[in-house]
Amino acid sequence: MVGPVAFKDVHKEEDDRICPPEEYADIISTLPSFESSGLRVRLYQGVWLLDHVVPGIMALQRRHKPQLGDVVLASPPKSGTTWLKALSFAVMGRAAYPPSDADHPLRRLNPHQCVPFMDNLFSAGQEAKLDALPSPRLLHTHAHHSMLPPSIADCKIVFVCREPKDMLVSMWHFVRSSGSSDFPFSALFELACEGKNPYGPIWDHLLGYWSVSRATPERVLFLKYEEMLVDPVSTVRELARFLGVPFTSVEEAAGWPADIADMCSIDALRGLQANKTGNTGLFFKCSHQSFFRKGVAGDWVDHMTPEMARRIDAIVEEKLRGSGLTFTS
Ligand code: A3P
Repeated sequence: MVGPVAFKDVHKEEDDRICPPEEYADIISTLPSFESSGLRVRLYQGVWLLDHVVPGIMALQRRHKPQLGDVVLASPPKSGTTWLKALSFAVMGRAAYPPSDADHPLRRLNPHQCVPFMDNLFSAGQEAKLDALPSPRLLHTHAHHSMLPPSIADCKIVFVCREPKDMLVSMWHFVRSSGSSDFPFSALFELACEGKNPYGPIWDHLLGYWSVSRATPERVLFLKYEEMLVDPVSTVRELARFLGVPFTSVEEAAGWPADIADMCSIDALRGLQANKTGNTGLFFKCSHQSFFRKGVAGDWVDHMTPEMARRIDAIVEEKLRGSGLTFTS
């Protein structure tokens, strides 16, 4: 298997014209919605989505054209998406780009320029860009499993999630770094407790992928950010096995699993010129730098009172009860 090819290498010219699909406007206007910090959020199929994302998910559901060998990465926002994109790209692409390659795409591009975000591409009417990517494609979505089109059912899916309190803290910093400096953490926290944060409820997001990964582990790999932090090299091996390209004894002897983990570590990525400068995103421009903040577990202690932590822990625990899915924090 050769590839995947970095999205940015196929679409070198910036063409960020936004032509949202108009045909769903009537349905969308009937969906329950509310406004928070100037942004409208709508409930579509049980999931709270930022307004601009709704037509994108609808178009994804109706128009997505799968290709043999597609791999879909999925995650709640701020749960290690950037890291998973880098690791998966490096693992899948290692025949074409060995981890020691000075010109490796991950050394000259931000991981989000390597792996496209389907939700926004469909929202912007730019999904034809996906058709131009050669197979095997590596694609990403924040959609819940219940929202994915049946055409994705044959793809392998890798899902990464994160302890919810840390995910929220990361989301808050990200929103602030994107310009909303007057958005208090308490506002996001309340939304999350009610299941109304972007792509929430968190617990439904988790449980959807969790139950398919338990029923069909050969199709959905369920990763936890905190476990990846403890042993990134094992995660690299796990990804390679799941994707059907386990490391050969020659690659093991050459130290490739550790080399890939090192290349994709937050310190290595953060230090690259490609990640210190530039920005990404169609609807909101996010600086590449903003995707690499702390990258640790347990940062919530500096943002939440013990009472807030107890409250959200209790909600999440109750929602996940009986599923076998737990988080230690
Ligand atoms: P923090 O804000 O807690 O530091 P996403 O990629 O889904 O947007 O998630 C961003 C979070 O992942 C941020 O968390 C970021 O620092 C962390 N992150 C990004 N790259 C990482 C890497 N290579 N290793 C570990 N964490 C990483």
